[in-house]
Amino acid sequence: MLLGPPGSGKGTQGERLSAHLAIPKIATGDVLRAAVRDGTALGLEAKGFMDRGALVPDDVILGIMKATLAAPGAARGAILDGVVRTVPQADGLERLLTELGRRVAAAVLFVISDEELVRRISGRTVCESCQTPFTGLEPGTVCPKCGGTLVRRPDDEPEAVRNRLRVYQAQTAPVIAWYEAHQVPVVRVDATGTPDEVAARIQQRLGD
Ligand code: AP5
Repeated sequence: MLLGPPGSGKGTQGERLSAHLAIPKIATGDVLRAAVRDGTALGLEAKGFMDRGALVPDDVILGIMKATLAAPGAARGAILDGVVRTVPQADGLERLLTELGRRVAAAVLFVISDEELVRRISGRTVCESCQTPFTGLEPGTVCPKCGGTLVRRPDDEPEAVRNRLRVYQAQTAPVIAWYEAHQVPVVRVDATGTPDEVAARIQQRLGD
């Protein structure tokens, strides 16, 4: 499980860990953005919360987790990116995993300053198709990875970013203590430096 504030690099490192461990990455933010893009009922419900930087309701997130964790692709495990974000989600995920005979092996906590988060987010574009984030490429650029189009996320505008940081401190930070109290190792990793440096720290701390 990857825990950390918005812009700390969870998506970037999640992709690398997924390739390294050959298990899928489940990112609730990506699932929700795809639903918004496709105009599904889930997307219509989630869009308002996301655009203003608020959290989507816990029951919606747990519904997504129930469907994705039971999928055959996740049979050998998964990297959870951006879930869980509230204590009720941590309770709910534990119930789901217990039913499946699974557990959270470790939580990697990305440690980084607010200044660096704002710097990264203000320079970010993401691919509309494959959702890969980029720094320094303008909206409208062709995605170097899949040929899709790069866009700015609506929740990367300054007011929404400020709200996401407030929400992280108020609702997601308590999840760290929840996992520590439930004997799940919380591995704190310095998330500054290049993506390669952060990836090396994570692999070293996870003992792989
Ligand atoms: P989500 O998509 O999960 O957004 P987030 O947690 O706010 O995280 P970000 O995607 O902004 O950042 P990241 O940590 O993945 O960093 P990234 O790798 O992109 O969620 C969006 C919304 O969906 C939420 O606000 C909420 O509304 C809803 N939602 C999702 N899950 C939910 C849940 N469980 N419960 C309720 N609501 C939920 O990197 C950031 C930038 O920095 C990129 O440009 C990247 O290229 C660059 N970068 C990465 N690493 C480095 C580095 N080492 N050095 C320099 N630049 C770097």
